[in-house]
Amino acid sequence: MKTYNIASLAGDGIGPEVMREAIKVLRATEKRFGFKLVITDAPVGWAGIDFAKKALPDITLDICKRSDAILFGSVGLPDRDATIPKEERPERAALLRLRKEFGLFANLRPVKLPKLLAHACPLARERQGDGIDILVVRELTGGMYFGQPKQTEDLGGGIQRAIDTMVYTTPEIERIAHVAFRAAQLRRKKLTSIDKANVLENGILWRETVARIGKEYPDIALDHMFVDNAAMQLVLKPTQFDVLLCENMFGDILSDEAAALGGSLGMLPSASLGSTSGAGTFGFYEPAGGTAPDIAGKDLANPIAQILSAALMLRHSFGLNDAAAAIESAVEHAIEAGNRTGDIFSPAEPNARRVGTRVMGEAIAAVV
Ligand code: IPM
Ligand code: MG
Repeated sequence: MKTYNIASLAGDGIGPEVMREAIKVLRATEKRFGFKLVITDAPVGWAGIDFAKKALPDITLDICKRSDAILFGSVGLPDRDATIPKEERPERAALLRLRKEFGLFANLRPVKLPKLLAHACPLARERQGDGIDILVVRELTGGMYFGQPKQTEDLGGGIQRAIDTMVYTTPEIERIAHVAFRAAQLRRKKLTSIDKANVLENGILWRETVARIGKEYPDIALDHMFVDNAAMQLVLKPTQFDVLLCENMFGDILSDEAAALGGSLGMLPSASLGSTSGAGTFGFYEPAGGTAPDIAGKDLANPIAQILSAALMLRHSFGLNDAAAAIESAVEHAIEAGNRTGDIFSPAEPNARRVGTRVMGEAIAAVV
């Protein structure tokens, strides 16, 4: 029987409880489709600091290196983050470090508003058209999050100066552009590249490079949009978008905005991949939302983003397309059956019932 090794890094806040549901669903696919998943838990984030005084303990990194994919929850607890130096905080010392360590430059965030959840979208019905279905392709290992210098200096006289550096090379732009064009080929064949070419050197290089790569994809309709306009267009006419190609920070921001259009940040999964794609690709899979400490441990969190991230893992890292599709349709079924966590619940829906994290996970696992 084919065996796949998964490192499960649940992390902090709602991480452990949504991870538990994702694993339940994975176990259900294992039974139905006949493969074996060896899932090894490892501490990360504050769980890592409490365990080994490091947001990314050595043993966790080792387990990741020996795995075929990483299923990640979320890290960071704002109340505790402030108590340690910024370089040691979970977001930078664990999450960004793992992305860099494994060269995971391509982050895919599919946003799809299920028809039944039209009420959970903050936009008026007429703006939702025939449905919102956008793939955000975010560059994940470059730009301002990693550029050097990155520091805060004391200028004396009580004045400080903070510096972050936005930097991209043409190969970095080319490789993420290829990922986005290929993704568009499998969708509605439209790519909107986001930049700030009217102000930033990075934006000019981004636009020129994406346009040049675009010549290799004559089947894709490419257009370019300034990021500020894109933020506006997303709420005015989201149906004009198919694939959005963004540098790191713009993708971070626009994917949260897009997630809200998709019903809830609690529904947005993501895949972070390195240089190859197809079966056998090492990948990192995480919900795009955060640790949500305010609702952690209360059985309130929506596990769907974590569960759909597990589906992306089966598809992109293991090539288990049928099992991935089974999870995705099980999520739709659970929604059709009326299950709603608080973030997607509306009392106006006649057949909806408010459920917790656990019941939602079980409802999905039951129909896989
Ligand atoms: C995301 C998150 C992270 C990011 C944070 C937690 C560092 O917002 O994955 O979108 O900025 O990349
Ligand atoms: Mg973000």
